[in-house]
Amino acid sequence: MTSDVQPAPRSKWRESLDYFLWFYTPFKPMTASDIYELVSTNAFSGKGLYLNLGYWKTARTIDDACEAMAMLVAESAGVGPGSKVIDVGFGFGDQDMLWMERLKPAHITGFNVTRSQVQLGRKRVDERGLSDRIDLREGSATALPVPDGEFDQVVGVESAFHFDTREAFFREAFRALKPGGRLALADVIRADPHPSRFQQRMQRFNWNFFMQKYAVPTANSDDRESYAAKLRAAGFTDVKVESIRDQVYPGLHKYMGEDPAMLRRFHWLARLPYKLTLLFKADSVYSAYNYILATARKP
Ligand SMILES: C[S@@+](CC[C@H](N)C(=O)[O-])C[C@H]1O[C@@H](n2cnc3c(N)ncnc32)[C@H](O)[C@@H]1O
Repeated sequence: MTSDVQPAPRSKWRESLDYFLWFYTPFKPMTASDIYELVSTNAFSGKGLYLNLGYWKTARTIDDACEAMAMLVAESAGVGPGSKVIDVGFGFGDQDMLWMERLKPAHITGFNVTRSQVQLGRKRVDERGLSDRIDLREGSATALPVPDGEFDQVVGVESAFHFDTREAFFREAFRALKPGGRLALADVIRADPHPSRFQQRMQRFNWNFFMQKYAVPTANSDDRESYAAKLRAAGFTDVKVESIRDQVYPGLHKYMGEDPAMLRRFHWLARLPYKLTLLFKADSVYSAYNYILATARKP
């Protein structure tokens, strides 16, 4: 899914300076929208503009894995013909167009804090003639400008770790859902502590680095139990927080080693740290992180 409509490029020098300050120094704290403005359309996937790590259970390419992740979330929420859906953190809208094509919901309203993603997403949706059924808006998942109890599903693909806070978003999702409505999220959380003390220190270091570099509020340092407890505290029932880390990190890691085109899509200053990770096994590179599929229902 490509588009000839692209965000206005910033100067190469300015872009490289910003990447340098972000990745290699502690001097440039970035908000989530700063990060995604900088990353721009240098996305993970080759055909589309997805920015998730992919669900690699059966997928063999990053494009298929990104789509598989989007489908896993929507199907777990029960998105289907007639559904009214909220999508939080929609990237460039690839997932919404995919769901519309494959699952045929009545309507999707998306919220995203990154202005250039919203603008390009809207243009792409328009080009496909879907703007009456997909409404992509600038706005935060933590303050949804929607009436109470109108939606059948709220979904988020790899975005909730950024929300300030995830707990505030859970309350908003609960408010927006109809009774019986469902929430499904693919999300990054902390891994369970490793038995070895040394590994625990590495996990802490890597998690802190992740929070600092990827605009993750400290309050979102959840493990599976605290995640489920926050969903229940927001009022949800049938809460399930399932680890899918083994279908995410190893597949991504293997693929990054095999497909040089994927890393070539990154800015050259971002490419280097990812190349370095390929010297290690996926288990140690991603030991600080769990990757979960969370589902819950409004009673
Ligand atoms: C890792 S990207 C995932 C994008 C897309 N879901 C995908 O799978 O390609 C995270 C997304 O969350 C969005 N985001 C971050 N904070 C947000 C917030 N508070 N409200 C809504 N969207 C947010 C970012 O702009 C970005 O689009």
